[in-house]
Amino acid sequence: MCGIVAYTGPQDCAPILVEGLRRLEYRGYDSAGLAVHTGRGVEIVRAVGKLTNLDQALRKTPLAGTTGIGHTRWATHGRPSEANAHPHVAGAVAVVHNGIIENHVDLRRELQGKGVRFSSDTDTEIFAHLIHAEMQSGIKELDVAVRRALARVRGAYAIAVVHGEQPGTVVVAKQDSPLVLGLGEGEMFAASDIPALLAHTRDVILLADGDMAKITTAGAAITRIADGAPVSRDKKRIDWSPTQAEKGGYKHFMLKEIHEQPRAIEDTLRGRIDLDKADVVGAEIGLTEEIAKATGRVYFVACGTSAHAAMAGRYWVEQLARLPSTVEIGSEVRYRDPVFLPTDLVVAVSQSGETADTLAAVKAAKAQGARVLAVANVLDSAIPRAVDGALYTHAGPEIGVASTKCFTTQLAALLLLAVYLGRRRGTLNEAEARRILDAAWQAPAKMRDVLARADDIRTIARRHMRAKDMLFLGRGTGFPIALEGALKLKEISYIHAEGYAAGEMKHGPIALIDEEMPVVVICPKDAHYEKTFSNMQEAKAREGQIIAVATEGDDEVRRLCADRVDRGSIPPPSGRGSMLVAADVIEIPPVENEVVPLLSVIPLQLLSYHMADLKGTDVDQPRNLAKTVTVE
Ligand code: G6P
Repeated sequence: MCGIVAYTGPQDCAPILVEGLRRLEYRGYDSAGLAVHTGRGVEIVRAVGKLTNLDQALRKTPLAGTTGIGHTRWATHGRPSEANAHPHVAGAVAVVHNGIIENHVDLRRELQGKGVRFSSDTDTEIFAHLIHAEMQSGIKELDVAVRRALARVRGAYAIAVVHGEQPGTVVVAKQDSPLVLGLGEGEMFAASDIPALLAHTRDVILLADGDMAKITTAGAAITRIADGAPVSRDKKRIDWSPTQAEKGGYKHFMLKEIHEQPRAIEDTLRGRIDLDKADVVGAEIGLTEEIAKATGRVYFVACGTSAHAAMAGRYWVEQLARLPSTVEIGSEVRYRDPVFLPTDLVVAVSQSGETADTLAAVKAAKAQGARVLAVANVLDSAIPRAVDGALYTHAGPEIGVASTKCFTTQLAALLLLAVYLGRRRGTLNEAEARRILDAAWQAPAKMRDVLARADDIRTIARRHMRAKDMLFLGRGTGFPIALEGALKLKEISYIHAEGYAAGEMKHGPIALIDEEMPVVVICPKDAHYEKTFSNMQEAKAREGQIIAVATEGDDEVRRLCADRVDRGSIPPPSGRGSMLVAADVIEIPPVENEVVPLLSVIPLQLLSYHMADLKGTDVDQPRNLAKTVTVE
C-alpha cells in the first residue's frame, strides 16, 4: 500500500504534492519522492524515511513547476532506499505506482534482454521502461504509450505518469488499486485517497477499475485502458471532515481496517498463486524446493495475534504437508533452553517484524543452525533482516492497535506456505491444491458478504455490551479463531474473555456458564461441525447466552439459539437482515474448510469493535497496549 498524488494547474505544485502526501502517510512512510516539470524537463527529488526528510531534500533542491506527481512508499518489492523510492524514471518518463505487478520477473528479464539497465529493485520501474520504449518507437501521445505499456502488465496498479516533453499533462490509470480525481477551477488533482484532495476541492471522480485519464488544466479525459473508448464517470461531492476522510469515512481506523481485509488478502495472494499449475510460487514466499524437501519439522514462533495465526498455520502444515509442527510463544522460547534441529524450518510470524521476544527466539534458532523464514508485514524490518527468507503479507500499514487485517493476511500467507510445502513434499495432490487455492482466491468476495452484515452484528453487540465475562469456543482452526476473538474483545472493550478449545470446555470453563454468560461458539459446517454443535448444546443446557458463528442456512444452529429471543425478553432486531441475527446467529457463506478462518474471524472482530464502541472505549488506542513491542 502506497500513496500517490498528482497535480496540474496554475500553482507551484511541490507544496501541494507534499501536503497531499502528508494526508496519505497512513498508506506508507518508508520513503517519498516528487517529479515536477521544471521547464528543464522532469526533475525528481526523493528521500528515505518520513516526509520531513523529503521536505528537507526539497529545501536543498527546490523543484519549481506547475505539473507534477508524488509518492509515499510502503515497500513491497525492494527494500526501503532512495534508489527504490518513487518516482521511477526512464528517459523523459517518470512514474509513481501503488500496487503489485504480478509478471514483473518475466518483464524485467525481457527488458534486460533488450539492454535496459534497471536502477532499482522495484516492480514499478518496469512501467517507466515500457512507456519509454513506446515513446521511443514513435508514439507521440503519452496516454497512448501508457495504454500500450499497460497491455503488457498483469496485476494491481494505480499509476501517475509525466513526460519531460509534455508539460501540463499527467496520465493516470487504475486497476485494483484506488485512484480518485479531484476537480478544481482550472486545476486538476489525482490521489490514492480523498484526504489528499480535501484542502483543494470537494468535487471528485472515483475512477473504476480499467479506467485511465489524461488530465490537463482543461479537465480529465477518461477512457478505458483496454480499447481507449471514452467513458463518463459521475462527479461526487464529499462532505466529510478531514479527520473522517483519513479514516475513509469510518469512525475508527480499526473499522476501516476490518473492511480493508478483502483487498489486503487479494494483495497478499496476488502473484503467488499459479492456478494453472495448482501451485504456489516459491520465489514469492521466500522458500525453495530444497528447503521444503529438507524440512523435518515446522516450528512457529510468534506473540499475540500473530501466535493465533501461527496456530492455524500449524493445522494446515500438519494436514497438507504432513510435517510435525509446533507453535511457541516468543517470550517462552527465549527463556527456555529450546532445542532446534538443523532440519527445522522455524517460521517467525510478526506483523511489525520488530517484536523483541520473537526476534530473540529467532536468534536462538539461528544460533542452533535452524533455517528461519519470517512472515512479516513490514519490509526489511528487524526479523526479516535477521533470517534466511521472508514471506511478506501485503496488508499495508495497520494503524489500529488491535490487529485485524494483519491477522487475516497472515492466515492467507500461512495457507500458501502449507500448500507449497505439501506440493513439494508430495503430500498434496494437484486436485486438492487447486481446490484450496481456488477457495483462497474466492475468499475475498465471500469476506465482503460477511462485512455487508456489519449492522446486524452491532445489534448483537448492543444486547451483550454489559457482559462482565465472555467465553469463545472453537475446534480445529476454529480454536485459534476463538482465541483471537477473545483477545480482540479484551484488548478494546476491556471485557474479560477467554478463548477455549471447544472440547476442553468440559474440563473447567463449563463451571462458569450461567444465564449471565455470553458464549460465542464458532460452529461453521466444517470437519468438526457435529462435535462443536454438541458443545453448543452443552452450553445452552446451562442457560448460557449463545452467540453462534454458523454457515448460512444452518437451521439447527438457529433453532438452538433462537428460543432465548423467542421468549420475548429481548426484542428481535428489525430491518434488513434481521432474519440473520434474530437468534444471535451470525452467518458466513459456505466455503472450503481451509478458508473458513478467513471468514469466521470477521464477525468476532466486528462484535468486539461494536461492543467497545458502544461502551465508548478508545478503540484505536486501547489503554496500556502498544502496536509494536520492542521491549521484553
Ligand atoms: C503487540 C500488538 C499485537 C500483536 C503483538 C505481536 O502486542 O498490540 O497486536 O499481535 O504485539 O506483534 P507482532 O508485530 O510480532 O505481530
